[in-house]
Amino acid sequence: MSGQSSLPVSIVPEPIAEGLSALWTLDPAVTFLNHGSFGATPRVVLEAQSAWRARFEARPIEMLDRRRAELLAETKHVVGDFVGATPDDFGFVTNATGGINAVLRSLRFEVGDEILTTNHVYHAIRQTIRYVAERAGARSIEVDIDLPIASPNDILAPIEAALNDRTRLVVIDHITSTTAVVFPIDRIIDVCRQRGVDVLVDGAHAPGMIELDIQSLGAAYYAANLHKWVCAPKGAALLWVRPDRHGGIHPNTISHFLNEGLAVEFGWQGTRDITAWLCAKDAIEFMAGIGWRRIRQYNHDLAVWVQAMLSARWGVPPSTPRDGSMLGSMVTIVLPDEAKVAGTVEAFQARLYDEHRIEVPVLQWNRRWWVRPCCQIYNTAQDYERLAEAVVTLCAATGR
Ligand SMILES: Cc1ncc(COP(=O)(O)O)c(C=O)c1O
Repeated sequence: MSGQSSLPVSIVPEPIAEGLSALWTLDPAVTFLNHGSFGATPRVVLEAQSAWRARFEARPIEMLDRRRAELLAETKHVVGDFVGATPDDFGFVTNATGGINAVLRSLRFEVGDEILTTNHVYHAIRQTIRYVAERAGARSIEVDIDLPIASPNDILAPIEAALNDRTRLVVIDHITSTTAVVFPIDRIIDVCRQRGVDVLVDGAHAPGMIELDIQSLGAAYYAANLHKWVCAPKGAALLWVRPDRHGGIHPNTISHFLNEGLAVEFGWQGTRDITAWLCAKDAIEFMAGIGWRRIRQYNHDLAVWVQAMLSARWGVPPSTPRDGSMLGSMVTIVLPDEAKVAGTVEAFQARLYDEHRIEVPVLQWNRRWWVRPCCQIYNTAQDYERLAEAVVTLCAATGR
């Protein structure tokens, strides 16, 4: 390691309340720093889901057939208010990957078309773009943007420069997965709109992490997860489509209500358990009881502190501005070079888990190794102090 840096370590935020981790069912033996991958659902929301399931199993036809539309309307009303979306303009999907697939596989690309994204794209989405591009003889273009990022312009300028007459669609993350950067999505959408190019936003991490008003962004399509930072049960996500783009967008499963309107069509995608969608309402209301503003503020402040603390402790540069202006509630920090003696990122992550009981993603990106701790209200500063020490210990051990 290059030794201690002189970076100022920002103030450690005070937890919202004591004992918040008891509201989740996470194993207390593990320091859980990976809310971002699959979310984690509070106990009461899981109980609400069990109660819904019992009602569905007691009266399957009444619940899934006669009452489905009414039940979905109730939860869509709450979800729509929370993310800034009129219920008619979105449908529930199982995950953000599914929502993005629905758009990309509904659109018709032609030979020579370009689908533009960046090297921060989530790999599953990269694969989907490649699949639809290859199928149509179109091209998948990735704009390179390295870390550290000093300002939103470092993202905006290369994307703008890559737009051309062949660009059919820009697929852009709102908050990136591996690199945990909040992209200047409104400015990217503006620039694309001026060039007549539609934008599909991968908002997998956005609801619950940052304040969101999907409609006002002006993208053509916005896919988002509710099972990550809204803390709904797994399988809760949405796809929003701007009204002038509804025509031609279908769920991945075509079923009875083809071409009867976006909301109706997405409202029935074959027989399935819809309780995760219904419980998005419970999750939003449960977290609102703690206070969404307080939750977002704490998680963000903690992430800003984590970036400063880990960079200082490991003697590495922060990936984004120190003021936290491009962070939500996750942060990606480059690992010290010594970590590479572990051989692979998977091996390093396994040692953090097996030897230190820390669950945190360790990722390879642009030839370097990164760690991406997440901050949720059940986490405290001590969790990241443990991570800081564990990495120092493992680097010393592997470097020997
Ligand atoms: C940016 C981004 N997009 C898409 C996804 C996929 O989410 P899901 O597996 O819920 O479809 C993730 C998951 O971490 C993500 O980080």
